[in-house]
Amino acid sequence: MKVDGKDLRPIWLDENLETVKIIDQRKLPHEFVIVDLKTTDDTILAIKEMYVRGAPLIGVTAAYGVFLAALTFLNQPDGEEKMIAACNRLRAARPTAVNLLWAVDQVMKSALARDDIADRIETARREALSIEEFEVENCKNIGLHGCELIEAISKKKSGETVNVLTHCNAGWLACVEYGTATAPIYTAFDKGINVHVWVDETRPLNQGSRLTAWELGKHGIAHTVITDNAGGHVMQHGKVDMVIVGTDRATYTGDVANKIGTYLKALAAKDNNIPFYVALPSSTFDWNISDGLKDIPIETRDPDEVRYVQGLHDGELKSVLVPPENSGAMNFAFDVTPARLVTGFITERGVCKATEKGVKQLFPEKR
Ligand code: MRU
Repeated sequence: MKVDGKDLRPIWLDENLETVKIIDQRKLPHEFVIVDLKTTDDTILAIKEMYVRGAPLIGVTAAYGVFLAALTFLNQPDGEEKMIAACNRLRAARPTAVNLLWAVDQVMKSALARDDIADRIETARREALSIEEFEVENCKNIGLHGCELIEAISKKKSGETVNVLTHCNAGWLACVEYGTATAPIYTAFDKGINVHVWVDETRPLNQGSRLTAWELGKHGIAHTVITDNAGGHVMQHGKVDMVIVGTDRATYTGDVANKIGTYLKALAAKDNNIPFYVALPSSTFDWNISDGLKDIPIETRDPDEVRYVQGLHDGELKSVLVPPENSGAMNFAFDVTPARLVTGFITERGVCKATEKGVKQLFPEKR
């Protein structure tokens, strides 16, 4: 996507073909820092500590992590075992986004199917690049399909502004290009449709107020940041036409795990008859589980992310403590929204109901 006139992605392979470059998303929007990843352990740290985040980007970073494992270890004695051990550590970097496992398995399988060491390394590199481009294409198509939904609302409102509410950051920073939840918004805006986005701040790490607001602003899209608790209120007052969120893992039966607080938005949307869509690429479906509430692993993170809030003060990024020093805190990173609250999925192949039948009609090869 363009930022201040320049093409930018949150990840890319350096010209030396040995270093992966990422934007450190922990510092946005106040500091723009690019970080080099040279080893698989660098990629594990970047995923764990959320320099990079968002399901598709976690997958792409992990794909490059496998390439770096191949590059580092395959020329050493017991290289294959060392590479597999590094990839197993990579698989455990974050538990909820299924894209991580999907990408690691895909790159490992392609690379280790080759006999020759140089060929294995080159195959891992090409496979990681192709996963990056696969996600770009997926998000572009999610944009085209989702835009039809926004366009239909715009027509019904005779061209008046369509108000979309989103939670967390399911934008290009989370995906490489376009985003998942934001792709239909970017496509609609580029087509000249009037759109405005309610951006949930998304505590504790504020991916909404820091990242989604930054992205939308750079694209010139009207948006308003609201507290996480304001969603129900704006819905009750007719200020939301639709909700679009992303997901870190969806069951083929229609349950979705997404950033903590998504479930409450889905409940409020249901109570107010507002369509609640989940935008996702096929890499975010878990084809092995059917009960999201029971089977999707929910990450719990450091309670200090809840206790402290980060922001700009006197030109410097600062963290400040909010609750009493000794109060305990708990940091659930995701929740599960059951299929019955989801109006539909927006995928690269089209829009479907959040049901096993709907999903398998779009992905018949998974039957
Ligand atoms: O903890 P994060 O920032 O990785 O959580 C990200 C989200 O919850 C996104 O909504 C999700 O990954 C979809 S990304 C297109």
